[in-house]
Amino acid sequence: MAILITGGCGFIGAHTSVEMLNAGYDIVLFDNFSNSQPEVLRRIYEVTNENLQFYQLDMRDKERLEKVFMENRIDAVIHLAGLKAVGESIHLPLKYYDNNINGTVTLIEMMKKHNVKKLVFSSSATVYGLKAQVPISESSPLEATNPYGRSKLMVEEILRDLYISDNEWSIIPLRYFNPVGAHQSGRLGEYPNGTPNNLAPYITQVAAGKLREMSIFGNNYPTPDGTGIRDYLHVTDLALGHVKAIEKVMSGVTGVNAYNLGTGKGYSVLEMIQAFEQIIGKHIPYSIVDRRPGDVAICYADPTKAKAELGWEAQKGLEEMCMDAWRWQVNNPNGYESSFELERSWV
Ligand code: UD1
Repeated sequence: MAILITGGCGFIGAHTSVEMLNAGYDIVLFDNFSNSQPEVLRRIYEVTNENLQFYQLDMRDKERLEKVFMENRIDAVIHLAGLKAVGESIHLPLKYYDNNINGTVTLIEMMKKHNVKKLVFSSSATVYGLKAQVPISESSPLEATNPYGRSKLMVEEILRDLYISDNEWSIIPLRYFNPVGAHQSGRLGEYPNGTPNNLAPYITQVAAGKLREMSIFGNNYPTPDGTGIRDYLHVTDLALGHVKAIEKVMSGVTGVNAYNLGTGKGYSVLEMIQAFEQIIGKHIPYSIVDRRPGDVAICYADPTKAKAELGWEAQKGLEEMCMDAWRWQVNNPNGYESSFELERSWV
């Protein structure tokens, strides 16, 4: 009995793998390393002292994917593999649809073929679009505004159609708000390719002297200090949300049921910068620039459904998020750079 985690070496995948191992599950991971490094596997072992089974593959590769299902008894899947850069998705929509949609269809076809009908899917708060009222509950209208967001929304819709066609499926799309922070060991964290798009890694790279200054995307939003407000949650809390979701799909309840994973509390860009300054003990230079197209003023979750039905609630506060993100940055200035070679038996 094992849980398959797709995209298991990414930022969320690595933390989810650790919490799944800590919870006593056997896990099988695959990743194509398009935005992650093999070193992550060594770090997961270092942090948990538990073994896992790993395959390097792209989920669109049916043959290699089938091997995973033939060689392991998979009970359920946590599907995290996918591309996630909004800006890139606007320039390369087909790359996003091929990866995120075709990849997912290939995966669920394989699951169906091998009678694995329990799935937790990494969706995003981005499916609520620009007009949602805060706090955003799961019943808010859904709308996507860019190819990345549309790929998340389309997969959710595909999963709902799948359940209509076969009601043995048990599926939980998890709609993430803004995951930040890193593993408290300082050994696992986020290392975006190139210049970060997201706020927290940008702040830590400025603080570390890798980038010159922050750009705040607009200070004329209808918020108390004029900067955008988001629901930041610690990546370990997010990972624990997956453990709870797996417990739920394994409990035999069928259907497609989406849950928000957020804290229910919003912080502005300026509050985030100040929180990091306090932890780091250093001034973080910034300038105000134009709004980023597609950004909303305020976005935070109504997390009551996840608490009531999954028994999940975010535990870690802003200080811990900043502290852990900074520890990771200081200990790993160049991310997972390493000479670690994949052992032949893992490939
Ligand atoms: C972004 C994506 C969202 C995706 C999520 C993944 C957009 C429009 N949205 O969410 O679809 O699911 O990342 O984590 O890209 N900010 C700055 N300066 C920066 C970076 C960000 O001021 O250099 C501000 C933004 O305007 C926003 C806040 O910080 O108010 C958070 O931004 P970010 O971390 O990019 O997250 P989202 O935009 O919420």
